[in-house]
Amino acid sequence: MNRGIFITFEGIEGAGKTTQVRLLAEKFKKEGLKVIQTFEPGDTQVGGKIREILLNPSLSINPNCELLLYFADRIQHIEEKIKPALEAGIIVLCDRFTDSTIAYQGYGRQISIELIKKLNTLILKDFTPDFTIILDLPAHIGLNRNKKINKRDRFEIEDIDFHNRVREGYLDICKNEPERFIVIDATKATEEVSEEIYKKVKTKFRL
Ligand code: TMP
Repeated sequence: MNRGIFITFEGIEGAGKTTQVRLLAEKFKKEGLKVIQTFEPGDTQVGGKIREILLNPSLSINPNCELLLYFADRIQHIEEKIKPALEAGIIVLCDRFTDSTIAYQGYGRQISIELIKKLNTLILKDFTPDFTIILDLPAHIGLNRNKKINKRDRFEIEDIDFHNRVREGYLDICKNEPERFIVIDATKATEEVSEEIYKKVKTKFRL
């Protein structure tokens, strides 16, 4: 059996990742493709507990502790969900992965990117997505979208400079590995963005 395909969705707050993961999964399911949707942090039983800590705005968390909690969530997620699905030939659509850690903890919190990459190699053995979609938009637009739906977690309460750094981080990361990424203008209408993603993924993997 062929291995499945591991596709991740990335972007700042309010970029619409969760919606786009769902829409792509729906399109693929209609075509009879085997697909699952998942997310980080928190899509395992252990990860759910880690997510509660990570997003709790009343907790003050040391940046390195935060970093290690994201890796703790990720290794559980890979071993429990992602790898078994890929081995069963399933397409895995994942809302955030290691590029989030580089963008948020590296560019946002300004932890050494070299350290994050070393941890990635040590803990994940460089387990990398096959393809990554970056939904890009100005930080103030994304934050306003989330304000309207009252989403205020430990990251959404960070100042605009933090979110601008995260956005710049994503745009920087994809320059180093252009073949793995596409950057999509997330200010466009939801269905337009969805069609663009669908066409790119279909073409890239000849689905
Ligand atoms: P979300 O489910 O709303 O995307 O929330 C996850 C939050 O966690 C979001 O603000 C981004 C942040 N995050 C990191 O800072 N580093 C990471 O590695 C991941 C996966 C998420």
